[in-house]
Amino acid sequence: MHARTPIIGGNWKMNTTRAAGVELAKAVAAKAAAHPRVQTVVFPPFPYLIPVGEALRAASSAVGLGAQDVYHADKGAFTGEVAPAMLSDCGCTWVLAGHSERRHVIGEGDDNINLKLRSALHAGLGVVLCVGESLHQREVGETNHVNEKQTRLGLREVTPAEMDRLVIAYEPIWAIGTGKTATPDDAQDAHRHIRAVVKDIFGTEIASKVRIQYGGSVNAANAQALMSMPDVDGALVGGASLKPDDFGAIIAAAAARA
Ligand code: 13P
Repeated sequence: MHARTPIIGGNWKMNTTRAAGVELAKAVAAKAAAHPRVQTVVFPPFPYLIPVGEALRAASSAVGLGAQDVYHADKGAFTGEVAPAMLSDCGCTWVLAGHSERRHVIGEGDDNINLKLRSALHAGLGVVLCVGESLHQREVGETNHVNEKQTRLGLREVTPAEMDRLVIAYEPIWAIGTGKTATPDDAQDAHRHIRAVVKDIFGTEIASKVRIQYGGSVNAANAQALMSMPDVDGALVGGASLKPDDFGAIIAAAAARA
């Protein structure tokens, strides 16, 4: 039995319509209800946060609501951005910070990600800090170095108390949306190293409690093997989170681990 509560995130990315998102939320609520010991969170696009939250509430679901991004200021002249308090106001309790698509498609850097993460934590949100290496970085042996750097810079000036609401997602870029998954052993090696970095910053107790999710082509078939690894505490799921049966099977795999 693992001490850490497994956490499964469904990152819908820029997918669904309002109606499809509501239907998906209802289906996820039904799947998740069978596994109360797994924490499940969905991350719909911004415009659908409110209707998805309403659908989850109407189903009396424990499934959490999260946003895919946030800005670091409270309010003001930041056209197109969304403040942490606005997310809370829309029913969110979680937000992603530093997803690789934001790092590499949108061009966010570690300093920016740290600002977002801290302002979201200050506002009372839970934050999933995403880290992970590119294929080139893996091939030249920089995997642990990259994950360490992104973890240290992402967590700069975070307080020990705030670490209760902080989850790390290890998402190797080469595994995202490619159908290529890290082997369970590769995932375990990366997770063990990330946990050691957290230990170095915050000490043994916080390191033993922090949950580290794996993300990158997680599906119904590979979830169980990944989550059987001692330092893999759940999954952050993209494509398969849009398919209720597949996502339900991933939640069930996490429950088997719990
Ligand atoms: P896929 O599961 O589609 O590879 O996406 C992973 C991911 O980026 C989750 O945040």
